[in-house]
Amino acid sequence: MARDIRVLVTAGPTREHLDPVRFLSNASTGAQGAALAEEALARGFAVDVVHGPIEAALPPGARSHPVVSALEMLEAARSLHPACDVLIGAAAVSDFRPREAAPRKVRRGGGVWTVELVPTADILLELGKAKGTRVHAGFALETEDLVEGGLRKLREKGLDWLVANSPEAIGAAAGRYWLLGADGTREDLGQVTKRELARRLFDAILGTLSADQAPGGSCR
Ligand code: C5P
Repeated sequence: MARDIRVLVTAGPTREHLDPVRFLSNASTGAQGAALAEEALARGFAVDVVHGPIEAALPPGARSHPVVSALEMLEAARSLHPACDVLIGAAAVSDFRPREAAPRKVRRGGGVWTVELVPTADILLELGKAKGTRVHAGFALETEDLVEGGLRKLREKGLDWLVANSPEAIGAAAGRYWLLGADGTREDLGQVTKRELARRLFDAILGTLSADQAPGGSCR
C-alpha cells in the first residue's frame, strides 16, 4: 500500500500582523501536525508540512515549509497540493486579519485603536476546488455541538474525513475526538493521544484511497 503516497499537512497557528510587533493568533503548538507527520513517515509516505510558527518539533524526514500568515499558508499549500495524494488540514488558521496592518508600531498615546477585521481565506475550502481524486481531511474545534458542527464543516469543505474535538486538545498531549466520514462514519474515538489519533485517521484515509482503487472505484 505504501506506493508513492505524498501527504500534505497544514499545521500550527497562523499570525496576522496588526503592526510590525503585534499579531492575532491562537494557542496552537503544531503538536497534531507533528504527530501526523510522524505517522505518515512511519508508514513510508512522503510528507510536506506547511506550518505557522510552531513549538512542536517536526520529525526528521518531514519537509518543512514555514509561513506566517493565512495567505502565505494558502500560497505554499496551493503550490504543493497538485503533487499530493492526501491533504490534512490540521492548522489552526486565524479566521480574521486586519484589513490593513499598520506599517509602524502603533503608540499607546494615540488613545483608542480601532481595527477592522476581515476574514482570511479558507485553505481547505480553496484547495477543495481542485480536490480531484485526492483524499482531504480536516479538523474542527467546536465548543458546542461537536458532531453537528463537525458534520457541517465536513460537507461545506468537501472533505472525506473530519476529526472533531473540543478546545482542551489545544496544547495538550491528548484530547477527546470524534471521527466523521463522508461515507457516513460517526465514530467516538474517546480520549486518545495525538499520535494515536494520527494512526486512526491514516487508517481511515487509506481505506478511502484503496476504495478508490478497487474495481468500480474512480481511477486514480
Ligand atoms: O476554523 P474551522 O473550524 O473552519 O477549521 C476547520 C478546518 O478547516 C481545519 O482543518 C482547518 O485547518 C481548516 N481551515 C483552513 N483555513 C481556514 C480555517 C480553517 O484550512 N481559514
